Amino acid sequence: MDEQRPQTEGGVRDLYALLKRRGYLWPSFEIYGGVAGFYDLGPLGSLLRENVEALWRSKFVLEEGFQLVDCPNITPEIVFFHSGHLDKFSDVMVSCLECSRPFRADHLLEGGPGTDPALIARLFRDRGIVCPDCGGALSEPEEFNLMFSTRIGPGSDKRGYLRPETAQNIFINFSNLYRHARSRLPFGAAQIGRGFRNEISPRQGLVRLREFHMAEGEFFFDPLVEGFAPFSRYRDTMVNLVPASSPDATLRMDLGTAVEDGTITSEVLAHFMGATASFATSLGIAQERTRFRQHLPSEMAHYARDCWDLEISTSYGWVEMVGIADRSAYDLTQHSKGSGTDLSAFRRFDEPKVIEGTRLVPDMKVLGPIFRGRAREAGEIISSMDPSSAGSAIGEGIRIEIDGQHYDVPDNAYRIESFRDVVHQERFVPNVIEPSFGMDRLMFAILEHSYFEDPNRAEEGESGKVEPYRILRLDPGIAPVKCGVFPLLNREDLSRIARDLDADLRRQGLQTNYDASDSIGRRYARMDEIGTPFCATVDHDSLKDGCATIRERDTQMQKRIPLKDIPAIVKRMVGGEKTFSDM
Ligand code: ATP
Ligand code: GLY
Repeated sequence: MDEQRPQTEGGVRDLYALLKRRGYLWPSFEIYGGVAGFYDLGPLGSLLRENVEALWRSKFVLEEGFQLVDCPNITPEIVFFHSGHLDKFSDVMVSCLECSRPFRADHLLEGGPGTDPALIARLFRDRGIVCPDCGGALSEPEEFNLMFSTRIGPGSDKRGYLRPETAQNIFINFSNLYRHARSRLPFGAAQIGRGFRNEISPRQGLVRLREFHMAEGEFFFDPLVEGFAPFSRYRDTMVNLVPASSPDATLRMDLGTAVEDGTITSEVLAHFMGATASFATSLGIAQERTRFRQHLPSEMAHYARDCWDLEISTSYGWVEMVGIADRSAYDLTQHSKGSGTDLSAFRRFDEPKVIEGTRLVPDMKVLGPIFRGRAREAGEIISSMDPSSAGSAIGEGIRIEIDGQHYDVPDNAYRIESFRDVVHQERFVPNVIEPSFGMDRLMFAILEHSYFEDPNRAEEGESGKVEPYRILRLDPGIAPVKCGVFPLLNREDLSRIARDLDADLRRQGLQTNYDASDSIGRRYARMDEIGTPFCATVDHDSLKDGCATIRERDTQMQKRIPLKDIPAIVKRMVGGEKTFSDM
C-alpha cells in the first residue's frame, strides 16, 4: 500500500480540517470568532475521549488500584498559597514591541533556560533574539502567573482559582483517602477532570489549550521501604530514555537495568514509567515514537525533585504528553503546615523499637499560676524541648517563647525524667510519585499517528475536488464508531434486516453508524475517514443465507458472516480477543 503519514505542517492542517468536517472537534466559540486555546469535542471526539479514559481507568483504577475522586474545579486561594502555585506557577513572557504579540520566553530559547527572568533577559541579549513573526525588538521578560482567578460568592473578597492541576484536591484530601485505604501505605488516588492554565500564546491546537482534560494519579509511599514488588510487571519493559545527564543521547534499555545502574532513581518511579508506556501502547502509539526525557534541573516544577516526561513524536516535534514527577513529601508537608492538619501516615516497625533517653516533664501546678490561660501551651512547649537545653545547674531554669514573647521558667516547674519506651510505629509524611496525563495531547498524538493518505485511491470527494483517500487507522478498542451498518440498497426488506443488526450491535455496547445513502464505496470511504474498523453490508443474498458482508478497514478484506453472530464477533475483535483473519 502506497500510503504516507502527513507529519508536516500541511498534513496537520489537513488532519484538523478532517476532524472538524467529520465531527471530532472544532475551535470553540467559532461563530463569534473563536478564542485561542479552546476546543470543543464534537460527537466523535467525545466518544474517542471516553474510550481513552476507559483505558486509563482500566490501567490505573482497576490494575493499579488507584482510588478515584472527583473534586471541584474552583479552589480557594489558600490552597494555592500553600501549594506554592500562587507564587511560582508562572511562565516567563515577552511581547513584541512592534506587533505586540506575546511569547513564552522559553519557547524562543533552546536547552531548558529555566524561569529566572533576569537570566532569560541575558540570554535574549547575548543571542540577539527578536520577534519570530515580525523581527521587532522584544520587551523585558516578566513572570506571568498561569492561573485563572475568580471570586467566590457575591460581593465577597474570597478569591478563588480554576485549578491548574487536579493533584491538589488529592493532597488536601489525604487524611480521608488514607482512612479509606485502612491507614495502610502504599496507595494511589486518581482524578480525571479539567485543568485550566491561562497559557501565554496557545498556537498548537490540542497541544496547548487554556482548558484541558487531565488524568492524574498520586501514589503515596514510604521512601524508606526498599524495592517495589509490583515493579516485576515492568522490569523487562524496553524504553527509550533521555537522562538529564546526557540530554543529547537516547538510551534504549529495560526499566530494570535503568534502576540498577541509577539512571532512574527508584523502582516506584520506574514502575509508573512502565505503566505509562504500557498505557501508551494500548492506545496504539508505536514504541519507537515515544521516549522518556528527564527534566533538567532548570526545568523542574517548584514541587518536583525529579521528573520524567513521556514525549511522543508529532509534527510539532517531541511533545510532552505525560509528566511523571517525584513530588517527594513537598505537597503534604506544605498543606500540613498551612492548614494545621496532620497529613502524616504511620510507619509500622517489623520489630518494636526500644527508645531510651531523658525528657522534660512540666509540673502544671507550678506552671498554672505563672502562665494562667496559656499554661497548657507552655507545658507542651516544655515537653517538646530537648533536656540538654535545660539548665544543668539547679536554679538556672529554661527560657521558652510563646508568640514571639520570651518567658523564664523556674527550675521547679519541670523535672528531667529518664524513660524507656517500646514503640511499634511512628508517624511520617509520605512521599508521592505522580503520573500526570494530558488527555487532549494524547488524543492529538493518537489521531495524528493514525492518519494516512492513500494517493492511489484519490478521487473526487464531497467537495467536488480530487482528494486523497484519507484513513484513520485507529485501534478498534478506541475508535469512536466500531461498525458501519449499511443496507446495499435503500429497500424496505434490506433496511429492516440492517436496522435489526444495528440495534443488536448497539445492545452489545458497540457504537454504530447506520448509513443508507450514496454508493457502498462512498460509505466505506466515510467510515475509513473517521476510523471505523469494521463495516457490515446487508445485500440481496442476506435474505436467503442470513449473512452479511463484514469488511475490515485496514486490509479491505471481506467475509460473509451469519447476521446472528456478527455482534459477538465484532465485540471480540474490538476487545482484541480475535482478529479479522482468525474468523
Ligand atoms: P509544557 O511545558 O508543555 O507547558 P508542562 O510541563 O507545564 O507542559 P505539566 O505541568 O507537566 O505540563 O502538565 C501535565 C500534563 O498536562 C502534560 O504532560 C500535558 O499532557 C498536559 N498539559 C499541560 N499543559 C497543557 C496545555 N496547555 N494544553 C493541553 N495539555 C496540557
Ligand atoms: N500535576 C502535574 C502538573 O500539573 O504538572
